Amino acid sequence: MSIKGPLADRFGREHTDLRISVTDRCNVRCRYCMPAEGAEFRPHSEILTYEEIQRFVRVAARLGICHLRITGGEPLVRKDIPRLVEMLAGIPGITEIAMTTNGILLDRFAGPLKAAGLDRLNISVDTLDRDKFQKITRHDELPQVLQGIAAAREAGFENIKLNALAIREFTEDEIAPLALFAREHGLNLRFIEFMPIDGDRRWTSDRVLPGVEILEILQREVGPLIFQQRGGSRSPAAEYRFRDGGGSIGVIHSVTKPFCEDCDRLRLTADGRVRNCLFCDDHWDARALLRSGGSQRQLAQLIQLAVSAKSKTHGSRGGVLTQPDRAMHQIGG
Ligand code: GTP
Ligand code: 5AD
Ligand code: SF4
Repeated sequence: MSIKGPLADRFGREHTDLRISVTDRCNVRCRYCMPAEGAEFRPHSEILTYEEIQRFVRVAARLGICHLRITGGEPLVRKDIPRLVEMLAGIPGITEIAMTTNGILLDRFAGPLKAAGLDRLNISVDTLDRDKFQKITRHDELPQVLQGIAAAREAGFENIKLNALAIREFTEDEIAPLALFAREHGLNLRFIEFMPIDGDRRWTSDRVLPGVEILEILQREVGPLIFQQRGGSRSPAAEYRFRDGGGSIGVIHSVTKPFCEDCDRLRLTADGRVRNCLFCDDHWDARALLRSGGSQRQLAQLIQLAVSAKSKTHGSRGGVLTQPDRAMHQIGG
């Protein structure tokens, strides 16, 4: 067994992308992600240290992982996150580090993250209406998110993506305002179909607002769109641009048109488990190895095992999209 890539699974999919959740905690409580009360968080002792994450990534990079995405929970609530970015940016083979954040703390962190070597930011914002924002996140912090987006642009981040979760009977009225906002500020807006991975376990298929309906609303209310590409193997979004040249829109059809055949992703949870799919229940315990003096070779073997066990489509239950054992904030989005 060698500690050199490529990290291919049984179906020939090469894995180059690692999503690292650095915390399962968050400063808000989005209804589609976390319960209002009683969310269960891992004790700090069970969360990987930055040094442990760095050791893991060194091995993963030798196996061919080159793109990292830092997620949560909310990654900016973890203490001194720019330090981790700096530690990971120095690892040979890592060519890009991105982060997915709710943006609330970006006003403070955008500059330090840029200086530490973060390349890209995806910021979640589902509505531009303050009351609706409060309803969905259970916090009145839309102004902070908007400030955070501005701070990210000022810090020099390019190709910033906005993630808007699409929920039937909630999102329809948000589509045009979000698209106009994104056009005005040169941001790439993506709508994400609601997946059965919510903390409240309230997902039902009739709450999914399919991507095709989102596109119909956009064409009716904003303007004609032209299909560009499926985002490449690097992104789960199908990309469209407005015919008048005024910006682009992505749609992540995670429910109606899953993109498993191009999947190049592996996940490391905050408590040190490797997962090969957002919807799987299996995991491989990297933390135990990291804390028991496991060698680089053993760690590489664990990563390779996780990849070779990956199913062809969602999860391990024959491609059926069912709720995994953990909610979004516990896996890392
Ligand atoms: P880019 O590389 O910038 O395109 O980032 P991304 O879209 O891969 O990452 P982001 O964290 O912004 O995720 C956007 C949405 O896609 C979130 O709802 C994620 O949960 C979802 N997503 C990311 N990876 C996967 C995946 O492997 N499977 C599924 N079903 N959804 C995913
Ligand atoms: N379905 C789809 N996307 C979700 N996210 C959180 N919960 C869900 C869900 N149930 C998205 C957030 C954020 C990213 C980290 O994951 O909107 O953009
Ligand atoms: Fe926090 Fe993101 Fe979950 Fe919302 S979706 S509660 S911002 S982790």
